Amino acid sequence: MKILVTGGAGYIASHTNLELLNAGYEVVAIDNLSNSCMESVQRVEKLTGKKIQFYEGDILDKEYLLRIFAIEKIDAVIHFAGLKAVGESCAIPLKYFNNNVSGTITLLEAMKESNVQNLVFSSSATVYGDPVSVPVTEDFPLSVANPYGRTKLMIEEMLNDLYQSDSTWNIAVLRYFNPIGAHESGEIGEDPNGIPNNLVPFVAKVAAGVLDTINVFGDDYDTPDGTGIRDYIHVVDLALGHIKAIEKLVTNPGLVTYNLGTGVGYSVLDIIHNYEKACNKKLPYKVTARRPGDIATSYADSSKALRELGWRAERSIDKMCEDSYRWQSRNPNGYLCK
Ligand code: NAD
Ligand code: WQD
Repeated sequence: MKILVTGGAGYIASHTNLELLNAGYEVVAIDNLSNSCMESVQRVEKLTGKKIQFYEGDILDKEYLLRIFAIEKIDAVIHFAGLKAVGESCAIPLKYFNNNVSGTITLLEAMKESNVQNLVFSSSATVYGDPVSVPVTEDFPLSVANPYGRTKLMIEEMLNDLYQSDSTWNIAVLRYFNPIGAHESGEIGEDPNGIPNNLVPFVAKVAAGVLDTINVFGDDYDTPDGTGIRDYIHVVDLALGHIKAIEKLVTNPGLVTYNLGTGVGYSVLDIIHNYEKACNKKLPYKVTARRPGDIATSYADSSKALRELGWRAERSIDKMCEDSYRWQSRNPNGYLCK
């Protein structure tokens, strides 16, 4: 089977490409390299000894997409391409709506015109807003607190309407919790532009000596140690979830939605202390104000993915921190393309 991976040079995509290639799939990737480097694609090729057919370009460019579909015989699309910085989405929302929502519409049109109707979509736990309770199941009410989240919810709603109008589509919506970690080779990992917004990339840069002190955003939440609790999932487990989703699409399931998380929540301080074990040093941190829009606690009930996909996350928090640190210490400034 040949899979088109949009956003194919990005963090989650590079790990997914590696697992796809190792599982015997052919991978075609498109990326405009707005938040990634070709280097990640080359490293995956080196790690697997297999080729990725890479197209540098934008999913907003329908003619380009149609050309790719005409050249390659694509069986399914995994759609990662998107902008994902919550703060930036509040500052420049139209860019997010254009890139994420219009980009997805363009992709769906090109797919339909090319008779490719199998799609895996990267959604996010952000669509649950501030959940009324935990763990969160797929049927919880949906709400969002920022433009980034709204793009994910709008796309999910759009996919529902599309499927209602034409049940020949097969669509797997995957709601990721908090992906962290890196491939155990230390060759590929997360490489954010500038100062990281997310906790683990920030902690990684402190551990690697690139940044000085971790800011803990609030220690007065209603949690055991007062800091926010999230469901961190190893990016390789997440990548393997995409393989299971592709296997599911082949059975013509229609539109299906799955949480991909571990079902276990860790606090900010838990993460810092686990990372200290991984890097074998003390990591300086200070407690600062809460970050606007943050919630106290979120973690997944992923039992539906276990039941219907036969998937569960297997890698521990220790492994997540060890693999993250291996990547960051070997590549303190990432892929160096920027
Ligand atoms: P990433 O930024 O590393 O990957 C996204 C890739 O898409 C980048 O390589 C970027 O250059 C590319 N891209 C963006 N707009 C494009 C366009 N118009 N045309 C072509 N390429 C484009 O991010 P990631 O963490 O790997 O996330 C992948 C997907 O998963 C995103 O849709 C993101 O919203 C979603 N997601 C991520 C997380 C997370 O915490 N990392 C959580 C939930 C959902
Ligand atoms: C985790 C915890 C922070 C940074 C975000 C997006 C979400 C999804 C995943 C894409 C929180 C605390 C953070 C720091 C801190 N992405 N923190 N110091 O906010 O759960 O989710 O990424 O879909 O949409 O919102 O992840 O890693 O930013 O924060 O104390 O420097 O760490 O307050 O409790 P979050 P995060």
